[in-house]
Amino acid sequence: MIALGCDHGGYELKQEIKKYLDDSHIAYKDFGCDSMEATDYPIYAKRVAHAILDGECEKGILICGTGIGISITANKFPGIRAALCSDCFSAEATRLHNDANVLAMGGRVVGAGLAVKIVDTFLNTEFSGEERHKNRIAQIETE
Ligand code: RB5
Repeated sequence: MIALGCDHGGYELKQEIKKYLDDSHIAYKDFGCDSMEATDYPIYAKRVAHAILDGECEKGILICGTGIGISITANKFPGIRAALCSDCFSAEATRLHNDANVLAMGGRVVGAGLAVKIVDTFLNTEFSGEERHKNRIAQIETE
């Protein structure tokens, strides 16, 4: 199950991502927002982070205007590794190297066509499982 969240700046792109997920028969749960009315991105980042940490969802996709505020918020939660991506190379690398469990994008940054390819890459790339990457990921959680 994929957790989706956005603010008003990411709402339109989230609708495009939902079409892709529907067409691909990928299950998702939408944690809002539900319109283009101005709202606060931390609300949705927190909902998605909790859904992943509680085990309800395996991965998340978060979208705000830039992807920055919503990824900053998600990354405050230990165990959440949110990667802000606007290219497929980064989406692949962050799965292979960082085992990122949240993809963040900027609805005002990437177009729908590219965003769908980024999502496809992110969801279809497995963590490499290499020891050096596991070791580095473990270091993220310590001060
Ligand atoms: C909302 O205008 C905008 O600030 C928000 O979507 C996001 O870009 C924040 O990082």
